[in-house]
Amino acid sequence: MSIESSRDSYTSRPLEEGSLDRDPILALRAWLDDAYACSELREPNAMTLATADARGRVSARIVLLRGLDGRGLQFYTSYFSRKAAQLEENPRAAATFFWAPLHRQVRIEGTVAQLSEDESDSYFASRPRGHQLSAWASEQSAFLERRDILAERMAHFQERFAEHDVPRPHSWGGYVLAPDYLEFWQGQENRLHDRLAFERARAANWTLRRLQP
Ligand SMILES: Cc1cc2nc3c(=O)[nH]c(=O)nc-3n(C[C@H](O)[C@H](O)[C@H](O)COP(=O)(O)O)c2cc1C
Repeated sequence: MSIESSRDSYTSRPLEEGSLDRDPILALRAWLDDAYACSELREPNAMTLATADARGRVSARIVLLRGLDGRGLQFYTSYFSRKAAQLEENPRAAATFFWAPLHRQVRIEGTVAQLSEDESDSYFASRPRGHQLSAWASEQSAFLERRDILAERMAHFQERFAEHDVPRPHSWGGYVLAPDYLEFWQGQENRLHDRLAFERARAANWTLRRLQP
């Protein structure tokens, strides 16, 4: 199979305006439910997150969606990471989901802010102990001389917290991406895909418009 000739064709039911909730967060929730119900999909909450620095230099990586409510999409990471440095300079970000077996994509654009300390604490407390320790051991995005250093740091923090619950390091926590644009894409025959985009300025009502594929 060559990259040039590999080609999937999509034959989904058309995406009608009436089939999406008028609240785009609820519409996204419904599509996530479909993705979780799809046995061919793993980690449907994985999303590509794009951030940019003040000069507009963009970078993208996958993060896991860990919460979704009226405020937006929540994810957790290191506040010392490269993405965090970019968000500090420029709070605009974009995220995409792609669920291949469902022939669906969702694109989200908006502004990112840190979650409260309490929310980050309570999510951190729900993580497996090994994941909590690695948040202490790894300075995400910094250069690492040798892999062994990580194992040594893990051993150090295992010992340091041996007798207690692992507290959340202040270098680690959540963000919420508050969207002002969400686009629902459903693949169709002959690349005549359906695209429905919700958009709003500030706290105004959402408008829903269809885009050419
Ligand atoms: C499936 C998957 C899920 C991931 N989830 C997260 C996550 O929730 N948070 C996170 O900080 N990094 C996550 N990562 C790692 C990031 O892609 C990335 O390597 C890391 O956050 C450093 O990015 P940065 O240097 O741009 O800040 C995940 C990677 C994959 C492949």
